Amino acid sequence: EHDAGPYVPHTGDLAELSRAAAACRGCPLHAAATQTVFGAGPRRARLVLVGEQPGDREDREGEPFVGPAGTLLRRALAAAGLDESSVYFTNAVKHFKFTVPETGKRRIHKAPDLREMTACRPWLVAELAAIRPRLVVALGATAGRALLGGPFRVGDHRGLLEPLPADGGPEGGPALPEARVLVTVHPSAVLRARDRDAAYRGLVADLEVAARALA
Ligand code: URA
Repeated sequence: EHDAGPYVPHTGDLAELSRAAAACRGCPLHAAATQTVFGAGPRRARLVLVGEQPGDREDREGEPFVGPAGTLLRRALAAAGLDESSVYFTNAVKHFKFTVPETGKRRIHKAPDLREMTACRPWLVAELAAIRPRLVVALGATAGRALLGGPFRVGDHRGLLEPLPADGGPEGGPALPEARVLVTVHPSAVLRARDRDAAYRGLVADLEVAARALA
């Protein structure tokens, strides 16, 4: 249990990757989570959106971005003129990490640590190598760090179109394909923002940069 590498089949077939990911034991997060939440969307997507990790709803339903953050994200995509049915949605970490406070029974999201991000990264690399998108949008610092390396601050990158650094990984696994990456805020951060409207407009403005880059 130290990384996903041994679980990732050498294939460009997304469905096969997704099936294999369901059995991943590459880090301890699988033990408490309901299921692996793999990416979803067209295998020829030109745009891939990368979040942090599945939330409570995603963990129960097995699909990325089906909870409140996903609803906001889909609204923002439409506002930016991007068709969500042509987008592939995934996460930097593919299991829900949470704590259960002693008193309540609601599961509280916990940010994945660097070890878990690193352990799960072979799945993200395999997805990107299979899809070969033109553009990858990193939603928040975890995704930004997984794609561009850390330490990482969203504010230093957001709204910019940068080259996705090629990286074969320590074992010389699949390299990241040639693509550009754009960093923006995570939709959950918009939901938590003091000025939610301004934060939402900022997200849409960044997604408009993505839409123009794909036009
Ligand atoms: N937040 C994420 O980062 N990913 C999801 O799939 C849902 C919420």
